[in-house]
Amino acid sequence: MNPVQTQKALRARFVAQFGADPLFEISAPGRVNLIGEHIDYTGGLVMPMTIQLETRALMRPNQRSEIRVFSERFSEHVVVRPHEVSRTLKGHWSDFVKGYALVSCHRQIGAGFDLYVTSNLEMGGLSSSASFLAVIALANRIQTQEEASALSLDDTERLAIALQCQQVENEWIGVPCGIMDPSSILLGGIRQLDCQTLKSTLLPKLSDDIALVLMDTKVPRTLASSAYKERVRQLHAIAEMGESIGQRRLRHLATLSDDQVSALMAALTDDTLKRRLRHVSTEQRRVLRAAEALRQSDYLTLGDLMNQSHASLRDDYEVSCEALDWITAASREAPGSLGARLTGAGFGGAAIALVHSGALEAHNDSVREAFAHHSGYEPELVTLRTGSRAEALRLDPN
Ligand code: GLA
Repeated sequence: MNPVQTQKALRARFVAQFGADPLFEISAPGRVNLIGEHIDYTGGLVMPMTIQLETRALMRPNQRSEIRVFSERFSEHVVVRPHEVSRTLKGHWSDFVKGYALVSCHRQIGAGFDLYVTSNLEMGGLSSSASFLAVIALANRIQTQEEASALSLDDTERLAIALQCQQVENEWIGVPCGIMDPSSILLGGIRQLDCQTLKSTLLPKLSDDIALVLMDTKVPRTLASSAYKERVRQLHAIAEMGESIGQRRLRHLATLSDDQVSALMAALTDDTLKRRLRHVSTEQRRVLRAAEALRQSDYLTLGDLMNQSHASLRDDYEVSCEALDWITAASREAPGSLGARLTGAGFGGAAIALVHSGALEAHNDSVREAFAHHSGYEPELVTLRTGSRAEALRLDPN
């Protein structure tokens, strides 16, 4: 994994690319989700954690009517003219820049900026696109603020930016994702986020004797986009049946009472839809218990809930895959294991494991060996730390 460029090296690259000094530094972390999977788009509770891996960029307003972005990850330079942006999807990373210009109504003459972007979020499932979008959003905000002091944002403004980022994904990129990723990245830390009300609570970090390991299967998430849309459609179909219990909205599905869930189950004839609803309902209840377990430093319970969540995603929601099942099973059997589950949308990408720090090395050796036995190659394992939140800072002149 490439370390994020040091600021000095990055500044030199910015100058080489754009011919002037950068004035701002913008960073946005990636995230994993500890528990509460595939229920953000149905009004559920989620428990994401920002991590130390991030997107980092340098920026300078350019007084032109164009946004110029260089992406180190793709080794590519794009120029976006906000007044020319049209609704044509190219399947290119610059779609996110154009989409943000559209939803934020960026049409001002001379309000462009230059942005040099680097990232060490190359593993699947860490929400690199939401992290990139958060950087674009903050760059756009700096440019449209008259006073630099407006760089400090309160949580309401941060959530408003997160909603705009979600709108880009939903309406421009065409992914019907929920609000979890941009909210987590804009707010930072480990949070219990209520995706119906957008209320969030900061939860304690993991204690020092507990490690969180990211286990990347390296399986590309090729199915993720179409299968994700299919799951959202299925929940819409369940919500339609909610007429019988007076709750027809998708964003209420995760918050139904036990009685309402039973009534809805009885109204559903399709077994697949019943299992989808069971996942939504049980996962919501697991998040409440997991947040309490984390507050009490009860890692045995937290790990157990993570295992249950994985089983539900595998059997009821069907968003796991062989490699994710292998790697989580390998972790559960390894020394020091407390629990493991896939994180993010699934269908490949990464899983997370909660491990006693003292047994970390033995755990990782054992996971590598067991996973390689099934797959023929080693996974990438990274110990995660709680990250900060998306931020923009004015740079010192030197
Ligand atoms: C992706 C989406 C999120 C969420 C997760 C699954 O990361 O972007 O909104 O739905 O999948 O929990």
